[in-house]
Amino acid sequence: MERVDVIILGAGAAGMFAAIEAGRRGRRVVLIDHAKKPGEKIRISGGGRCNFTNLHIAPEKFLSDNPHFARSALARYSQHDFTARVDDAGIGWHEKTLGQLFCDGRSQAIIDMLLGDMAAAGVDLRLSTTVGAIRHDDGFVVETLRDGVGAPLRSETLVIATGGKSVPKIGATGFGYRVAEQFDLPLIETRPALVPLTFTDSAREEMAALSGLSVDARVACGRAVFDEGLLFTHRGLSGPSILQISSYWREGGAITVDLAAGEDAAGALRARRQSAGRISVKKALSEVVPERLAQQISARAGVSGRLGDQSDARIGRLADAVHHWEITPAGSEGYRTAEVTLGGVDTRSLDAKTMMARRVPGLFFIGEVVDVTGWLGGYNFQWAWSSGWAAGQVC
Ligand code: FDA
Repeated sequence: MERVDVIILGAGAAGMFAAIEAGRRGRRVVLIDHAKKPGEKIRISGGGRCNFTNLHIAPEKFLSDNPHFARSALARYSQHDFTARVDDAGIGWHEKTLGQLFCDGRSQAIIDMLLGDMAAAGVDLRLSTTVGAIRHDDGFVVETLRDGVGAPLRSETLVIATGGKSVPKIGATGFGYRVAEQFDLPLIETRPALVPLTFTDSAREEMAALSGLSVDARVACGRAVFDEGLLFTHRGLSGPSILQISSYWREGGAITVDLAAGEDAAGALRARRQSAGRISVKKALSEVVPERLAQQISARAGVSGRLGDQSDARIGRLADAVHHWEITPAGSEGYRTAEVTLGGVDTRSLDAKTMMARRVPGLFFIGEVVDVTGWLGGYNFQWAWSSGWAAGQVC
């Protein structure tokens, strides 16, 4: 049977990064993926320009049942470390907004950088390879099948980097969760996150009528609040603020949307009533929000006609419809479009410095399969780099 030092399952961001680090330490590393190409999510990320990290990485911007877990790995291999690596590779980048760093060119540059580093570190990358049973004795035996030929592999250590369940069309399987179960490691319930929210009935009709319209909004759910773009779609709501809040929303709960964050709709409407009482409510509202939205807000508040005829109370109702739109999503678009999977391997069962399972020496979990989920904006790739780096120092 073929023997190596390290088997890594999953050639995504985390798996490739761990492979490079372990290879640089002189470990014989085999990196296995069932997909035809490595790093498919890197390729499609950030609209094809990979938002590879964020200047404002901080533990508070990650969701986990064990919030302090990510702190160590994020500090040991930071956004600045990864950015320096991108600089060394001569890849141009820019800050788009809110500290989000994107490639100037295609995401493929990041994949090429990782592939180059893997080759230099002597990593053996095996694609189009099906992973079968995993056995554990004094090491690990992984059954693999490539071109119809079975080939068991033995290693001292095994790193699970198979990601979450989001976007099954490009290879996501939930395989890592089954490995955790095999080794009796607890799981935190998984759910789609960074995902558009869907609505039914009249709310959906209202949103569909505005499909394609985007506004700057403040969206809140419980104590979570995001000030970012909101997009109306045929099925409901999307855009960065909605994707962010989807990680905090739970079935049956409401979200609150301020459609003109930072503005004072009541003040603006009262001032216009004074200066131009003959204009319509809709016209006055369209000075605060886009015209198509103004029509709906006036209908939702049940206030229409000449602005000059409206009492303070009715203007208050309009302002409320602008700033405090409370809506209850019916659900989300699910794993089909979710950018990430919330939940995963319970971090209490892993060592925060190395990502090794406390009760199974030699078994590591890194990247999205772990119950650490970042905000939108480069946070999830940074977790993949940081956790992959941490495991790569010791696996
Ligand atoms: P990842 O999913 O990348 O890799 C897992 C690998 O394991 C895959 O190659 C898969 O084929 C393989 N695999 C799975 N099951 C297997 C099995 N049974 N056998 C063998 N191999 C198996 N984040 C961010 O920070 N900035 C961004 O711009 C974006 N943009 C973005 C866009 C879209 C459309 C999506 C879906 C996601 C993002 N993300 C993102 C999130 C980011 O892509 C994600 O968090 C990381 O890719 C996770 O890296 P991992 O290496 O953990 O898993």
